[in-house]
Amino acid sequence: MTSYDHEHKIKTMFSAEQIAERVDTLAREIVADEKENILVVVILKGSFVFAADLIRALERHGASAQVDFVTLSSYGMGTESSGMVRLTHDLSEDVAGRIVLLVDDILESGRTIAFAVETMQERRAASVKTCLLLDKPTQRKVEIEADYVGFTIDPEFVVGYGLDLAKRYRGLPYIGIVQSD
Ligand code: IMP
Ligand code: MG
Repeated sequence: MTSYDHEHKIKTMFSAEQIAERVDTLAREIVADEKENILVVVILKGSFVFAADLIRALERHGASAQVDFVTLSSYGMGTESSGMVRLTHDLSEDVAGRIVLLVDDILESGRTIAFAVETMQERRAASVKTCLLLDKPTQRKVEIEADYVGFTIDPEFVVGYGLDLAKRYRGLPYIGIVQSD
């Protein structure tokens, strides 16, 4: 399906149904590894929709996770990363001794998640795992892999389901490719 009522043409890559099914499976995998006392650390802003679905799926599968939020930013208004990660809003929880599950939207260069993992380790989390909705493995600049990945994709710029292009399209229920024409 291609939608023309936006400024950009957006072609569906994963439908809401496909996403829901995959998120449920991810939650099952996570719970099989760890059920108790998970602190889900949501990396804002891009992963808030994913995280909202994931914590409910975790609950369905028997893990009652706690949730906290951190805002990391590496992108400006365009589609190119600046290469620098900044922490612009910190957690309210102390992560020392906690079983942390970092949740983010996209693993691209790896800089964002590497920075987040390092920060949790410096703060003496008992364990740190990573759950990424999307992985663009060909774009890596830092050597890092996620523990849980929703979908592996080619290096196209995607929007929807929390992901933005210049702050737009986060509310789309599906994940779509911005068509360059
Ligand atoms: P990394 O630090 O290069 O791994 O970049 C990951 C971050 O860049 C993600 O958390 C997103 O916020 C952003 N990002 C990367 N690719 C896309 C995309 O296709 N659409 C929207 N945001 C993206
Ligand atoms: Mg992000």
